[in-house]
Amino acid sequence: MLAQMKADHKALSSTLAALAQSQFPPKAEKSLRKFPASEAAGYLGITARYLALSADELGLEIEKIGRGERRHYSLQQMNQIRRFLAQKAGDDAAKARNYDPQRNSDEDIQIIACSNFKGGSAKTCTSVHLGQYLALQGYRVLLVDLDPQGSASSMLGVVPELVPEEDSLFAAIRYADQRPLREVVQKTYFDNLDLAVGSPFLTEWEFFAPHYATISGQEEPGIRTQIADLEEQKKKKGIANTRLREIEEELARAHARLSECLQRKLYFTRLQLAFEDVEADYDVIICDTPPSLGYLSNAASFAADHLLVTIHPQWIDCESMAQYLATSIAHNEFFEATVAKQLGPEYLVPKSLQYLITRHDNTSRPETDVVTMLRSQLQNVMTNTMLRSSAIAEAGNVQQTLYEAERSNFNGKTYDRALDSLNKVNGEIEALLKTYWGRG
Ligand SMILES: Nc1ncnc2c1ncn2[C@@H]1O[C@H](COP(=O)(O)OP(=O)(O)O)[C@@H](O)[C@H]1O
Ligand SMILES: [Mg+2]
Repeated sequence: MLAQMKADHKALSSTLAALAQSQFPPKAEKSLRKFPASEAAGYLGITARYLALSADELGLEIEKIGRGERRHYSLQQMNQIRRFLAQKAGDDAAKARNYDPQRNSDEDIQIIACSNFKGGSAKTCTSVHLGQYLALQGYRVLLVDLDPQGSASSMLGVVPELVPEEDSLFAAIRYADQRPLREVVQKTYFDNLDLAVGSPFLTEWEFFAPHYATISGQEEPGIRTQIADLEEQKKKKGIANTRLREIEEELARAHARLSECLQRKLYFTRLQLAFEDVEADYDVIICDTPPSLGYLSNAASFAADHLLVTIHPQWIDCESMAQYLATSIAHNEFFEATVAKQLGPEYLVPKSLQYLITRHDNTSRPETDVVTMLRSQLQNVMTNTMLRSSAIAEAGNVQQTLYEAERSNFNGKTYDRALDSLNKVNGEIEALLKTYWGRG
């Protein structure tokens, strides 16, 4: 069996690498199309005429395509125009923000984890479309791919298997030679959308996290006893100054070991700590999680401010979601109790929980029944649903989102309907982000 597996793996990997090469030549890199004036203007919330005037005023060279010489804007150019218009708005902060919506220093970064242990509930599809939508609106977004299968990374043009360990998300959360997340994050072909690559190395983390947590749990009492002993010794009368200095040094070492030990024991805080390194660089971090409630998903849900649970509205998926909720409750109660005890209650951040109905066939009666049930039983089911669409599936087949795909490749009506559904879902999430930032 192993011999066959090895041969099959080799054959499949090289075919996939060749496919990537042929799909995105010459460097097997994806690129983003340019946006026609009306579409670009729509993203900026201005008229096509004002967009053209602003581009001219800025002296940008806008590509003209086709016989009609119609202007097409790159996302970089759209973002340049955004910043230009925001600057022009001067002291009118609300107007400036309409052009350039990035958060200011008193608005916190928002971390969203797309979660559910059911595979196929459209976690990856949701994460990538949301990331691209927000980037198109002008936000700075980091997509964190926590799935060892790296599907979100693939969608963003990276072949996970070809990414060295050093350049993958794993390097930023591993237990030896950890790298700062900022060094690991890569730019994508989408301006303002960066990626921390998910890769098979992450599977190791599923093994190491519990391993180190257990060992650290065993070491902790010993270190605490040592600290208590040293504190006692310090209090003794007539202790020589040289001995006192030695004790202080030993105490410092013991505290450092204890803090290292706690960090390993509290494995679920590891991703949160890694995020601190890049916080200043982004407005939103989106975590795509694997289809399981393992250690990686736990780390994402602990780091997140918002849990976005995707549900395919079918009875069997609802049953699995009930189990997901039960397991999540148990895990989160454990995290909260452990953090409150070990670090203090101030380390616990309140989170929001939203449900998004995905792959929704709104012509199907059974699905409508499930959606009605979900809306009546759960709080915070998002108003908009992500409709099932052959356009999303077809674009997904060639590792594209609807935002990057060309409308002309689809039946126009099908494409428009799917895009409208995605925009409504993503717009609803953007509105939530704005309320968290306290914007009117
Ligand atoms: N709205 C949709 N319409 C049609 N197909 C969809 C839609 N959303 C997702 N899919 C397809 O469903 C499959 C599973 O989606 P994916 O995002 O990979 O799920 P997960 O990450 O939860 O496992 C993919 O093939 C994807 O292209
Ligand atoms: Mg996925």
